[in-house]
Amino acid sequence: MTEPLLRLSGIVKTFPGVRALDGVDLTVAPGEVHCLLGQNGAGKSTLIKVLSGAHQPDEGTIEWQGSEVRFVRPTAALNAGLATIYQELDLVDDLTVAENVFLGHEPRRLGFSSRGAARRRTRELLGRLGHAEIPAGREVGRLPAAGKQIVSMARALSHDARLIIMDEPSAVLAHDEVENLFRVIRDLTSAGVAVIYISHRLAEIREIGDRVTILKDGRTVAVDLPAKTTPTNEVVRLMTGRNVEYVFPQRAATTPGEPLLRVTDLGRQKEFSDVSFEVKAGEIVGLAGLVGAGRSEILETVYGARKAATGTVEMDGKPIRRGSVKAAVAAGMGLAPEERKSQALLLGEPVYRNVSLASLRRFSRFGFVRRGAERTEVGAVTRSLDLRPADPRRAMRTLSGGNQQKAVVSRWLLGRTRLLLLDEPTRGVDIGARAELYALIRSLADQGVGVLMVSSEVPEVLGLADRVLVVREGRVVHEAPASDLTEAQVLDLVMAGERVTTSR
Ligand SMILES: Nc1ncnc2c1ncn2[C@@H]1O[C@H](COP(=O)(O)OP(=O)(O)OP(=O)(O)O)[C@@H](O)[C@H]1O
Ligand SMILES: [Mg+2]
Repeated sequence: MTEPLLRLSGIVKTFPGVRALDGVDLTVAPGEVHCLLGQNGAGKSTLIKVLSGAHQPDEGTIEWQGSEVRFVRPTAALNAGLATIYQELDLVDDLTVAENVFLGHEPRRLGFSSRGAARRRTRELLGRLGHAEIPAGREVGRLPAAGKQIVSMARALSHDARLIIMDEPSAVLAHDEVENLFRVIRDLTSAGVAVIYISHRLAEIREIGDRVTILKDGRTVAVDLPAKTTPTNEVVRLMTGRNVEYVFPQRAATTPGEPLLRVTDLGRQKEFSDVSFEVKAGEIVGLAGLVGAGRSEILETVYGARKAATGTVEMDGKPIRRGSVKAAVAAGMGLAPEERKSQALLLGEPVYRNVSLASLRRFSRFGFVRRGAERTEVGAVTRSLDLRPADPRRAMRTLSGGNQQKAVVSRWLLGRTRLLLLDEPTRGVDIGARAELYALIRSLADQGVGVLMVSSEVPEVLGLADRVLVVREGRVVHEAPASDLTEAQVLDLVMAGERVTTSR
């Protein structure tokens, strides 16, 4: 083998009460895509933070291009040629795209930093990433999640890195966006740049990866497995220590009951129009489509977080006031949103507070919160999802990304919600915990809860939902029982969707 670009040996990192990394080894060769796999909380993000200088290791060594190094801060790693795209993107919302890309290393001309040059370079980089449409002068806070991801990529490219570390880059991207990302990665690797790629989707590892290192409970349990040929059950067994069946729960045998939610001709300027559908009690309806097709906007408008311009939303036959989350919640709706960090979590608060937020009223008597009852019920739900660490008194910010996602979803599983709106519920959740989450969602439906969910993973929509609506460019282009659709058909519709009318 050629001289490794990077070699980590025996890396240890502890946080108060947690040994997040307990002796990790990792070797990366120039020009390869090295995948890092492991369950939620295994230590992947911590490892790359150690590597990128955001955390200091307690023990172990980092060799970079043959010599031992220590990156005392992220800029040191960047200057040495390691760029990182974090799981929780670290862009500054108030700055423009170009300002974010060149933050800390503005291009200079005659000693003056030049805004024009920064914008020009940014436009080039965005073009190379296939996203010339993102305006370099736009504030980052106004971009959708996928757009922020691209900006983060552009920033990594602006440093001419030898190694680019990507922590779950595909989690915010839809199918065609992932293809685009892979094209960029292939470009980079053919120029000799190495990539460390983290994802919970095995299909992606197979497509883009060369070799795989697996972490479990902060330790390396397998190194340098061939990404394309190692059998899935072997990978999953190494990750989890058990054989996990990746199956979807049985659909209910009985046909669902009364219409719970009825949406008629719903529309919002420039987002979506003429959207009509029903969700019955006990039914799971999936919205398939690309990022930007309008699925999240539809969900948020049903919930009243966005105000509809046209149409009606009815629960149990009664119309709900437009643009009123309060009215929607009073009618029994709950929304688990897409961007957990900004919309859903109190990062400084303990886990149990975050989870019980939606059902606080149930836990209070005469205005006092019954902490004991609150913790017991929260404990039951989080245990069934294998939330780690299990102690619900921990601060939310100390949980791994996937575990934060589980907490967001648990919140609604605990609430007395009759219609559950789920936006990408399994984003960042590992293979083992996904099956549990699917089972929980299905069991809620079996108890009569209606579910409307958005997912960019077509197999997930087809496997979990009873009925599927395909959304394209703000319109519902197809509606059918999930069992009548194949993955290829849905992908076809999602991309090129001819308008098909179906009898109901
Ligand atoms: N700042 C912190 N303080 C305390 N504990 C932390 C902190 N950051 C991470 N941890 C803990 O370290 C362990 C590893 O977390 P890490 O984020 O590295 O997992 P991960 O493999 O990236 O998981 P995921 O797939 O969910 O993103 C977890 O137990 C987590 O709770
Ligand atoms: Mg992580």
